[in-house]
Amino acid sequence: MEIINRRQRMFSISRKLRRESKTVGFVPTMGALHEGHLTLVKEARQMCDVVIVSIFVNPTQFNSSVDLEKYPRDLTTDVSLLAEYEVDYIFAPEEHEIYPDGFSTYVNVQGVTDVLEGESRPGHFRGVATVVTILLNTVRPDHAFFGQKDAQQVAVIKRLTTDLGFETEIVVVPTVREESGLAMSSRNERLSAEEREKAAIIINALRAAKTEFKRGERNASHLTQIVRDTIATEPLARLDYVHIVDRESMQTIDKVGDNEALIVIAAYFGDVRLIDNVILNRKQ
Ligand code: PAF
Repeated sequence: MEIINRRQRMFSISRKLRRESKTVGFVPTMGALHEGHLTLVKEARQMCDVVIVSIFVNPTQFNSSVDLEKYPRDLTTDVSLLAEYEVDYIFAPEEHEIYPDGFSTYVNVQGVTDVLEGESRPGHFRGVATVVTILLNTVRPDHAFFGQKDAQQVAVIKRLTTDLGFETEIVVVPTVREESGLAMSSRNERLSAEEREKAAIIINALRAAKTEFKRGERNASHLTQIVRDTIATEPLARLDYVHIVDRESMQTIDKVGDNEALIVIAAYFGDVRLIDNVILNRKQ
């Protein structure tokens, strides 16, 4: 396993891999790796000849400098975990390698970023879209792996790779959950033991609504009411939003039709904001 810090070195490795006709799987991360990331790595390992993981805490996707500073960083632990998963290259650039002096080019994906997380975290998806564009252009992978937990991020990245003509196939991996059902996230570490246990109400609420969907309920307000009612039974939970959205456009819908849709939720436990979703009408 080689750790690469420079963009030029990453370019030349990826050129060499293409010359050798190796399929390249890429897992972009911000480090602080947990089981969710490692599942993406496992998937990449199964599908591709060569696996590249990036570790870069991307400053442009943070809304506050305090959050950016507080973001957990532990490169040594991350590197030893990735070695166990037989990763071939870790791309861990310094900030100036990604954002050189005078940097002034940003990627704005319209529409899909205007709602939900885009509303709560202005500028967040501009930062994600920009860094993912730079990373894909540097690594040039055949496949890039993202988790379904961040459904809106997936929708943004699919839109941008289609619009900008990237050849990379975006592979979406199902959400990895703790034993209780809580979606894995680095934010879970900030929950108290009690909050972490009680936060399973989020997936229980989504599953209750999905059960009604399977019984034939198509009305979005009825389905979201089930989620609201279930969340209301947990005093530690504070609902931020719950919506039924089109999986591709992330726009709210009133009635679930034939297209893939999601029930998306954001809820607070203390000051920790958690997101999750379930898919309705899954096509594959
Ligand atoms: O999901 C993440 O960890 C980040 O948003 C990503 C895709 C690595 C871009 O910084």
